Amino acid sequence: MKKVLVVSSANMDFVQRMHRVPQRGETVTESMDYAYVPGGKGANSAVAFARLGTDCVFCTCLGDDENGRVLRGLYEKEGIDTSHIAVSPTAPTGLASILVEEDGSNRIIVYPGANSVITEADIRAAFECRPDAVYVQLEIPDKAVVFASALAHERGIPFVVDAGPARTDFPLKELAGVCIFSPNETETKVFTGIAPVDESSRRAAAETLYRMVKTEYVVLKLGGAGAYLFDGMRGMTLPSYPIEVKDTTAAGDTFTAALVRFYLDGEPMERAVRLANCAATIAVSRPGASASIPTLEETLAFAHKIGVG
Ligand code: RIB
Repeated sequence: MKKVLVVSSANMDFVQRMHRVPQRGETVTESMDYAYVPGGKGANSAVAFARLGTDCVFCTCLGDDENGRVLRGLYEKEGIDTSHIAVSPTAPTGLASILVEEDGSNRIIVYPGANSVITEADIRAAFECRPDAVYVQLEIPDKAVVFASALAHERGIPFVVDAGPARTDFPLKELAGVCIFSPNETETKVFTGIAPVDESSRRAAAETLYRMVKTEYVVLKLGGAGAYLFDGMRGMTLPSYPIEVKDTTAAGDTFTAALVRFYLDGEPMERAVRLANCAATIAVSRPGASASIPTLEETLAFAHKIGVG
């Protein structure tokens, strides 16, 4: 079994479902429902790896608080290796406030808390697990991401960037050799100024990112439109599959983790993207962040049903 080291964030998500989000200065009374659920881009991806049958070592930082203890317990139940999760004595566990509208779209505000104090020493120690790939997102400090990329490069380990949340001032040029760079539509627009709305704008955005990042593949996540795969020469949109959307939270985290899982398994990149689309499609059909992530069996059964060859 392949092993992935996830160096990324962990949050408790406070999720409120609503008919519509309030305007500035407006108070909306909303009695649909709310819940505290495990989330964080890194944790969602770590859960996805575990459920999809990949060994996962999770390097993150939690607070010394109730949320931190609850989250660690949940990761252990999922079979994630938690031995490289640090605990900050002062910073609280990260928290995300998530508004989910009726069409399943979301708006997220993250209070990073302990995610912002992950150290280079924590990351260096986690590399001792000898992973087959290292996977990061941008919800931890920039210097931690750059440091992890340098270590992975030095050791010849494939390095994957699930590029959210995006900021125009993130130092993309400082990332050492990247294997897969994968932003969603919003993140693509932030990094490139191009909205990937059709084949030609997707190609233009992917080419721009290819010039900005030393990467082998660019994979744009396009929500309901699927994903755009670019290898420096060929680019193509691989569509997603029709389903009733309940909640898009964690769909991107699920997609990228599934993509890496199938890529490491030796699948050709195009098929790995199609299978990742299957995993993300299942995730959007269910409520919650990590709660929505499918298992390997569910993903393969769905792929079989819709004829992904
Ligand atoms: O990608 C979804 C995640 O983004 C949520 O779980 C939230 O915690 C934020 O990190």
